[in-house]
Amino acid sequence: MKSLVLSLVWLLNVYPTFAAIASISDIPLKSNLPTVSNKFIIEVDEAANIPPSKRFTESLSVHDLVFENLKTRDVNLNITKRYNVKGVFVGAAITLDNPQDVAAIRQVPGVKDIRPVQKFNIPKPVFKHVVTGPDDPAIPPDSESTHIMTGVDKLHAEGITGEGIKIGILDTGVDYNHPSLGGGFGPGFKFVGGFDFVGDDYDGTNAPIPDDDPLDICAGHGSHVSGIVGADPGNEFGISGVAYDATFSMYRVFGCVGFVTDDVLVEALLMGFQDGQDILTLSLGGPDGWTESSSSVVASRLVEQGMVVTISAGNDGASGSWYTSSPGNGINVISVASVDNTVVPLQNATVGGIQHDPITYFNTFPLPINTTLPIFATSNSTTVVDDACAPLPNSTPDLSDKVVVIRRGTCTFVEKLTNAAEKGAQVVLIYDNGSGFAGIDVGDFIATLIQSADGEFLVQQFAAGVPVTLTFPQTGGSTDFPDPNGGLVSSFTSFGPTNDFFFKPAIAAPGGSILSTLPNGTFGVESGTSMAAPFAAGSVALIFQSRGKNADTAKGVRSLLESTGQRIGSSKTDGDPLQTVTQQGGGLVNVFNAVHAETVVTPAELIVNDTAHAVPEQKFTVQNTGKSSKEYTLSHIPAGTALTIQAGTILPENGPVPLSSSPATVSINPSTFTLEPGASQTVTATISGPTGLDDTTFPVYSGFIEISDGDQSFHVTYLGLIGSLIDKQVIDDTDFFFGIPLPFIFNSTGAVQEGPANYTFAGDDFPIFVWRQAFGSPRVTVDLVNPDIQIDATLNARAVDDNKKPFISFPTPHTSGTYGQVQTIGSMLEFNFLGRNNENPADNGANAFSITTPTFANGTIIPNGSYRLLLRALRVTGDATKEEDTEAFLSEIIGINA
Ligand SMILES: *[C@@H]1O[C@H](CO)[C@@H](O)[C@H](O)[C@H]1NC(C)=O
Ligand SMILES: *[C@@H]1O[C@H](CO)[C@@H](O)[C@H](O)[C@H]1NC(C)=O
Ligand SMILES: *[C@@H]1O[C@H](CO)[C@@H](O)[C@H](O)[C@H]1NC(C)=O
Ligand SMILES: *[C@@H]1O[C@H](CO)[C@@H](O)[C@H](O)[C@H]1NC(C)=O
Ligand SMILES: *[C@@H]1O[C@H](CO)[C@@H](O)[C@H](O)[C@H]1NC(C)=O
Ligand SMILES: *[C@@H]1O[C@H](CO)[C@@H](O)[C@H](O)[C@H]1NC(C)=O
Ligand SMILES: *[C@@H]1O[C@H](CO)[C@@H](O)[C@H](O)[C@H]1NC(C)=O
Ligand SMILES: *[C@@H]1O[C@H](CO)[C@@H](O)[C@H](O)[C@H]1NC(C)=O
Ligand SMILES: *[C@@H]1O[C@H](CO)[C@@H](O)[C@H](O)[C@H]1NC(C)=O
Repeated sequence: MKSLVLSLVWLLNVYPTFAAIASISDIPLKSNLPTVSNKFIIEVDEAANIPPSKRFTESLSVHDLVFENLKTRDVNLNITKRYNVKGVFVGAAITLDNPQDVAAIRQVPGVKDIRPVQKFNIPKPVFKHVVTGPDDPAIPPDSESTHIMTGVDKLHAEGITGEGIKIGILDTGVDYNHPSLGGGFGPGFKFVGGFDFVGDDYDGTNAPIPDDDPLDICAGHGSHVSGIVGADPGNEFGISGVAYDATFSMYRVFGCVGFVTDDVLVEALLMGFQDGQDILTLSLGGPDGWTESSSSVVASRLVEQGMVVTISAGNDGASGSWYTSSPGNGINVISVASVDNTVVPLQNATVGGIQHDPITYFNTFPLPINTTLPIFATSNSTTVVDDACAPLPNSTPDLSDKVVVIRRGTCTFVEKLTNAAEKGAQVVLIYDNGSGFAGIDVGDFIATLIQSADGEFLVQQFAAGVPVTLTFPQTGGSTDFPDPNGGLVSSFTSFGPTNDFFFKPAIAAPGGSILSTLPNGTFGVESGTSMAAPFAAGSVALIFQSRGKNADTAKGVRSLLESTGQRIGSSKTDGDPLQTVTQQGGGLVNVFNAVHAETVVTPAELIVNDTAHAVPEQKFTVQNTGKSSKEYTLSHIPAGTALTIQAGTILPENGPVPLSSSPATVSINPSTFTLEPGASQTVTATISGPTGLDDTTFPVYSGFIEISDGDQSFHVTYLGLIGSLIDKQVIDDTDFFFGIPLPFIFNSTGAVQEGPANYTFAGDDFPIFVWRQAFGSPRVTVDLVNPDIQIDATLNARAVDDNKKPFISFPTPHTSGTYGQVQTIGSMLEFNFLGRNNENPADNGANAFSITTPTFANGTIIPNGSYRLLLRALRVTGDATKEEDTEAFLSEIIGINA
């Protein structure tokens, strides 16, 4: 089902030991930087610097005053959008002539902040299938299983269905004409309002064409999301939304394809607020690892105003820790992880030639084989480790009319399948060599995975000469297989924490294999944290309806969901630790328990932070909101400690992030107490991380403190780091990714520059600067400097003498110098809060900066001459005024010969 993600994890785990991950040809020749150049969002202070006499004159806006001020400083800018929601966000989206003016703008009185404009791709589900009808084998057999996992079914039975709650959805739009989504638009329908900020043709690069109709029949994503929270029951598929009697509005922020930029998201978030939505839900975002993007900040502000905002945590689980998504990174928003559905629809093959039960294979649809075929095993041993990894022997018969059976192990599935295909094989079953059972990457071959016991049975029969055959029924072969990962966190869920050590994701909700509505009256199964966020939004609606909709409930709702969450294991094997809190948050929502909770625990997140900033002593309050006295017992339940970095390297571990079961030590005081109705008790938890772990792995420890009253149980969730982020190297200077040491400059024919080189900037003759970040950085700059620059020793002068090799310096503690004192000729690039790269060359493997024209960042022509590029990155928690907190790299000499 999730073959995409699983195969990626698998590839990444196998290849690095043999060869580099990527080649130069994987790097785009066009810059692939994550922000829109020259576009920024500024925030202005609502009251500052406005003369009191003018403060209340309607005609004079804060904007005008600030912009007048900017003009007097020779800053050239155009305003593309104004934001004016007092108490939440007052500011503007601007384009600058000169990005170097960012520093000047920051100094202008009345300017609170200036942030880059990020891009967010149109959400793509991890898995998507449009079903053909109620009998489609892809439909999860029990369509309401997600409601049963979370207690939603019991609340529906109590008549709690979200009535009176207003939910706004930011997505691709919705096909509100779908019979299960109300069949119309406007007052009286399910979708009463909303807005289209962009229009069908918007792709992120062109001008949006807004209108007030958020209809979408092209992208479809928003219709699926809408059905999860709001589909009416009574359809032929037996599904219903979590809060189907709520009132909905759709804010369309994507066209049919492409991406959306922060400036549009901020506008949509603010409109949702002004429209008085109780809940906003966003199934979108992109990894940046920081809480600071404009849309993250605005989403977080809305929560301070008493709204609830649920946002998907991201589908980047394969990329490992420290890779959370914005705007879900917003400090106060509820970032939602995905849990796999408990059942998965698979297919059975029938066995002939011997009496035996059918064999289940990991496909949603039958393999397209309509004849009965004999089996052939490539090895008669059921313990062979490298079955079919080498070309099959000459004695192998023609395999075209056989079902070939191969054991998993050593080489890739596609290598095995290629070897079998050389002998004519057309259909292959690979049997697992352990207890695995999941979707696998088979390329274009007709092949699938079966369980080890079934494979061993087939091979034993073959070796014994029994003429076993297999048939793949084209109808009637579908079976309700209990999902081997059902109830576990979906492997695609992004791992936290953020680089500034905030708690992401907050909670988990069903998101793997979810059946919901699609445009044009259809239905489909999709997987992703996109499916989990609307589930959480619906859950909050049920809580609002039953516990009252007010600012207090709103502010407490994240704690309520977290403290009543169901803790999730890291696997189904006894003895394995609970999944790290950095992927499950407070656990799978249990809305029934949240609605009926008679104990309030605040806060529900205890953040110890890194060693340098550790707050080991944490306090929380337990309040009895019930009608009778309760006796509480508190205990520590550790979760797995995430080993986030590969031992002895600077590189993050890919997902699934390896876990250590070494627990933290937590002392709880008091650990038992009795509370009368209404009374509360403050508890102190003193948390110290596990000892004996390799601190080069930057272990993130986590777990729960359970609070039981003998009847109901609650928990608070904690998170801490062994080690300090100031010690985490940011810039990748290894040869792991490309097989040559990073960073480097290459040219458009793919030659890596070694020694000085001249560029004419005619045609394709220009340099491309490539760097990777093994970790996020609060500030990254690329400047042009004199080739024989005499820089402070911490930026090592050796580089100047040695033209052969790029030199990277990671200075040891040092006392003098600042980020700003280095003599530079001009700025080429500048980022605040840049996230790290991942190991997927097709996705976010490296940052490429193509210098196609010899211009500074501000567009001014660089005079012909010799230069170097100076890349600097501030470490997380570093001080920009301290040189030792900044990593620096000096490039080869580039001659500009335009
Ligand atoms: C501002 O708009 C004017 C007129 O459209 C245009 O000429 C100018 O280049 C723009 N400046 C910026 C900084 O975008
Ligand atoms: C829905 O129908 C319209 C009109 O026939 C078609 O253009 C569109 O592609 C369909 N949408 C989807 C998602 O199939
Ligand atoms: C599919 O095969 C499994 C394993 O033999 C069996 O338990 C199950 O009943 C079969 N399902 C159907 C629908 O035949
Ligand atoms: C069997 O499958 C083949 C290839 O897909 C197809 O050409 C043939 O018509 C099918 N035969 C039957 C009886 O369905
Ligand atoms: C496996 O067993 C079958 C049946 O006994 C036999 O024909 C075949 O040669 C054996 N294969 C090998 C590689 O020994
Ligand atoms: C962790 O400590 C750093 C450094 O003081 C700080 O910037 C950050 O906000 C802290 N994180 C949390 C969640 O408190
Ligand atoms: C680059 O051009 C300069 C000026 O024309 C010349 O002196 C120098 O030798 C050239 N360098 C290389 C590596 O070609
Ligand atoms: C790139 O560099 C190589 C090696 O110096 C050179 O042969 C090639 O012509 C260069 N390509 C371009 C487009 O300048
Ligand atoms: C652009 O930047 C360069 C290098 O810092 C500087 O010399 C030049 O004056 C700037 N141009 C403008 C128009 O600000």
